[in-house]
Amino acid sequence: MVGGGEGAYIGNIHRLASRLDGAWQLVAGAFDVDAEKGRAFALSQGMDEARSYGTYLDLIAGERGRADKVDAVAICTPNFTHYPIAKALIEAGFDVICEKPITATLEDAVALEKLARESGRFVGVTYTYSGYPMVHEARVRVAAGEIGAVRSVQVEYPLEWMSKPIERQGNAQAAWRTDPKKNGRGGSIGDIGTHAYHLAGFVTGLKLQALTADLATFVEGRALDDNAHVMMRYEGGARGLLWSSQVALGNSNGVRLRVFGETGSLQWFQEQPNELLYTPLDGRVQIIKRGADDLSVDAKVRTRTPPGHPEGYLEAFANLYVGFAEAIRARRDGRAPGALGQNLPLAYDGLKGVAFVEAVVDSAEAATPAWLTPVAV
Ligand code: NAI
Repeated sequence: MVGGGEGAYIGNIHRLASRLDGAWQLVAGAFDVDAEKGRAFALSQGMDEARSYGTYLDLIAGERGRADKVDAVAICTPNFTHYPIAKALIEAGFDVICEKPITATLEDAVALEKLARESGRFVGVTYTYSGYPMVHEARVRVAAGEIGAVRSVQVEYPLEWMSKPIERQGNAQAAWRTDPKKNGRGGSIGDIGTHAYHLAGFVTGLKLQALTADLATFVEGRALDDNAHVMMRYEGGARGLLWSSQVALGNSNGVRLRVFGETGSLQWFQEQPNELLYTPLDGRVQIIKRGADDLSVDAKVRTRTPPGHPEGYLEAFANLYVGFAEAIRARRDGRAPGALGQNLPLAYDGLKGVAFVEAVVDSAEAATPAWLTPVAV
């Protein structure tokens, strides 16, 4: 692992999730931007002294010559460091599991996706919400035509934690997220809008054609958007609305997806992740529960406990990790991956996510966005 040191957020989730199914062992790391702190943290996490590295370059130098070198490296650092770290790892022959957004700029995303493709290295991207079994169930049902042609997609990711200028009050996570050089051009849209965009595309299979966006910065002095509204047009005519916010009081991680088709709709809310709501034309709302016998293989292989015993965020994240392991193993064995190793977020999905964020910011910055038609009263 690179990043995810003492006090960091997502690194610990990676550690927990990667170990849940015994598919991975964490054996080496350069965990912190401060080399000494990183080494101390590695030791505290049980790494061998020789594999407790100060920097990612030390990690590459130390691991590449070992007979038991690491199989893959998880990148859990702020956005602007993803590209140089991933590039160095891929060029040294390592497979990579990278946090989203895959890079801070479109230029870097294009270069990284190309490098991944041409090198043949595995690059998985942790779009967390595509790990949930009921999200897979929704994807399978849309693909099977259960709701007919999709007409509209409503997707949102509201958070509240940045409602005050916490980036100026000592919050390390907020500090880099509000610095365009470290975060990239999209504030809420780059941080969480990119999750919502991926989730909507993952479930519907729709390809985005065009968008128009309204970005707002509500906290005074903040350099990036903290609220984004995006109107989207998909190929084939479906419409979408995406909302991401870091200032939506009362919302912790209220990811919600609603897909409306000609003959039915599907709704999934991450705060009730074990349920999927299905409404057929002329029918009643039905609650489809995780663990039910008649679910798809895609949902079943991502389910560990019987219905009624809740699964959630960590299990969803673990599904990505166990899927990445299966995909890597299958490639090494020269066979097709099983269901767990399919439909995973990869480098191309990461590139599409960054392209989306850039398009949103371009739209919002345009002198006269198309939708700003004056209203004559
Ligand atoms: P954080 O600020 O809590 O942690 C970053 C860690 O990276 C720190 O330990 C820091 O010392 C370390 N670091 C920074 N530069 C480094 C370098 N050059 N070498 C080694 N370590 C270095 O950040 P947080 O919130 O954990 O976010 C990290 C990444 O994870 C971001 O890209 C973010 O977008 C993504 N993320 C993804 C989530 C998901 O749901 N998939 C949720 C939260 C964050």
